[in-house]
Amino acid sequence: MHRRLIAPGALAASLLLAIPASAADYTPGAPGIGDPYYPAYGNGGYDVSHYDLRLTYQPTTDELEGTATLLATTTQDLSRFDLDFLLDVSEVRVNGAKASFTTSGQHELEITPATPLPKGTPVTVVVRYSGVPSTKSAYGFSTWHRTPDGAVAADEPESAWWWYPSNDHPSDKATYDVSVAVPDGTQAISNGTLQSTSSQRGWTRYNWRSNKPQATYLTTLAIGRFDITTGKTSDGVPVVNAYSKDLGDNDGAARASVERTGEIVDWLTGYFGPYPFNSVGGYVPNTTTGYALETQTRVYYSPRQFANGSNTSVVVHELAHQWYGDDVSLAGWKDIWINEGFARYAQWLWSEHEGEGTTQELADYTYASHPADDAFWTVKPGDPGPDNQFDTAVYDRGALAIQALRNEIGDDAFFTVLKGWPKEHPYGNATVEDFRKYAERVSGKSLAPLFDTWLFQPSKPAAPAARGASLSAARDHKGVPAQPRSWKKIAATDSVHSG
Ligand code: TRP
Ligand code: ZN
Repeated sequence: MHRRLIAPGALAASLLLAIPASAADYTPGAPGIGDPYYPAYGNGGYDVSHYDLRLTYQPTTDELEGTATLLATTTQDLSRFDLDFLLDVSEVRVNGAKASFTTSGQHELEITPATPLPKGTPVTVVVRYSGVPSTKSAYGFSTWHRTPDGAVAADEPESAWWWYPSNDHPSDKATYDVSVAVPDGTQAISNGTLQSTSSQRGWTRYNWRSNKPQATYLTTLAIGRFDITTGKTSDGVPVVNAYSKDLGDNDGAARASVERTGEIVDWLTGYFGPYPFNSVGGYVPNTTTGYALETQTRVYYSPRQFANGSNTSVVVHELAHQWYGDDVSLAGWKDIWINEGFARYAQWLWSEHEGEGTTQELADYTYASHPADDAFWTVKPGDPGPDNQFDTAVYDRGALAIQALRNEIGDDAFFTVLKGWPKEHPYGNATVEDFRKYAERVSGKSLAPLFDTWLFQPSKPAAPAARGASLSAARDHKGVPAQPRSWKKIAATDSVHSG
């Protein structure tokens, strides 16, 4: 290379400039993915496409150890990047070479690869780790649930930190192979299909595969003594359910509910279209929690959901999430209505199907039973804030908004929207805004005022136009119509409040 002669000061400057411009552009990935509700959740600078988790768990001591192999692609020139994780890391390799690492913040594992990573290239990250998950916490809490015979990871929005390193935000979905060795006689349950089991020297390894994109919080692990049942839906989707051998008096009601998974998937298919995954089912571990969770293909049910007898309503709620929440996931946590409004509305449809109250009766009762000064109306289901993310209003006012939409655009357009939405964003992410625009496109109506009134105003909307039977429904002296028969059962599925 020929250079003209230049003064010494300028020479030094030009040498600095001679460093390839790109090297100076290598910067650390952000410690959070940019969700204003949870600024430190997820990370910047890369996208994960696959998690391979090869683990061993000892129930008597709660010791978990293993190796996570992540396949990712960089989205910027990276000098280092974070994963979200709480267990003890012994080694990290990036593209085969040893990387240095440290921890920071509440749950960051900071990884510095030996060589910086150019934007748009594939990266393989191997993390070797071990630890006792029940001894770890972030922000002062833990969501790892010990049981007398093992443990369960199933929580929202955070559950991964206690058992595998991840980019912990639903906007980065990936496929999973989860392989867990446990002592003979103990089972390991996770998402998707059980590819195989193998046994040696007193340990049995369970190899699970989830072959469609899955959010981190929808990835679940349960270790314990389970009875596993199998079947098929009418469309041939394999059903795998698991029941703790320790459910006591709840055992019958749990099975009488969860064994109806195939029937309920068939029924939901009529509203939402074909079931989106390669397997379906649920598990009921012997936890003391109160909630259920829509973990992808393998729903988590607390035994307490069945304490009053069978509960198909909660099964409907969690299976509805497989389309609304799991197949089409929220883009940011503010979009939680995309999940909970529709899962609640599915319970209303099931109530009508069971002859326990129509969707309109449930909507009328919801509307009338909260007076205008009730704090219920201050929660905006379309952007409730992190503290109210799972408030009853997100569910009930959220479903009320869906009934209002139905009444505005009519049944034909409404049911087209309901079934068309999963096809709009298959295995993807979407916002409340995206849903409004889709409903506008299908119905040919401008829906901004309706969405604003029902999802974004912190006040009770003026009475919706009543339809049909609701006009003549008997009301008490406060104007509240009779409580639909399904009401209490539906309300009892509000995990967080009953839990
Ligand atoms: N998504 C769950 C449901 O509605 C409810 C839920 C909210 C939850 N927060 C949670 C479950 C925390 C477990 C933990 O089915
Ligand atoms: Zn839900």
